[in-house]
Amino acid sequence: MATNIYTIAQWLAEAVATLLQNGITDSPQLDSQLIACEVLQVGRTRLYAFPETTIEASSLQTLNDCLARRASGEPIAYICGHREFWSMHLTVKPGTLVPRADTEILVEQAIACSHKAPLGPILDLGTGTGAIAIALATELPQRHILALEQSADAIAVAQINIENHAPGKVSLIQGSWLSCLNDNSIGLIVSNPPYLGVADSHLATLAHEPIEALVSGSTGMEDLAHIIEHSVRVGKKGAPLLLEHGFEQGTAVRQLFLEHKYSHVHTVQDLAGLDRVTYGITAS
Ligand SMILES: C[S@@+](CC[C@H](N)C(=O)[O-])C[C@H]1O[C@@H](n2cnc3c(N)ncnc32)[C@H](O)[C@@H]1O
Repeated sequence: MATNIYTIAQWLAEAVATLLQNGITDSPQLDSQLIACEVLQVGRTRLYAFPETTIEASSLQTLNDCLARRASGEPIAYICGHREFWSMHLTVKPGTLVPRADTEILVEQAIACSHKAPLGPILDLGTGTGAIAIALATELPQRHILALEQSADAIAVAQINIENHAPGKVSLIQGSWLSCLNDNSIGLIVSNPPYLGVADSHLATLAHEPIEALVSGSTGMEDLAHIIEHSVRVGKKGAPLLLEHGFEQGTAVRQLFLEHKYSHVHTVQDLAGLDRVTYGITAS
């Protein structure tokens, strides 16, 4: 985009056209507005109320830089540095998965079954930005939350979000899945692990997000299988395990729960009727 004098309305119109030309067809208008709000530090209402406002040259350059990043396919959350999850404004940086609205189903289900779960901490495996752990900490203030993550980049981001939204309520642990946790120590386990196969076609549109947050072996099932197997040891008797997974993985995930003697195994669908979260109760 040229750098002569622009009003907000002109910049937004050209930004939408640029995104469409570059194949960003999902929400080019909203993305352009979000970039403008972030760079100009105004709310969306102001964009509508004062579209004739002239943009300063220094802001115009930043706007165009952000627009070029979005046009290249970078998620808007990385460009703006935050994403809404469970009505919270979470910090997001490259190196952490951008939290998805779908994952709120997992949070809802975990809250619903927490009331019958044994006493003891709630464990969020692969916490990323801390989204699930922090949502649970705000909804279940009487429970202590453990948030475990392997990636140092994600741990740093989760730390920021915990301090902003749930200080003192979530303990961060760096480690790999359940290996560092004691037997029979956890009251409820929840996870949104990587679940795409290495050749999954969705990866083409996710190139900016960390591969280790997305891919789990050739079928996408390796981490799900590992967590189902090892949660039996770490969960207290009767501890629920709730896992988010791909919409085509429900049958295979339920089968693994049953092989490891979980009871009450069932899968929850999203609004489109697709399998998204499977639940079971540890027997040991
Ligand atoms: C799909 S992302 C989910 C992030 C976050 N819980 C959310 O829902 O937005 C999976 C997360 O698991 C983490 N992860 C991958 N392998 C891991 C392992 N072996 N141990 C712990 N965390 C792991 C990734 O770094 C990533 O943050």
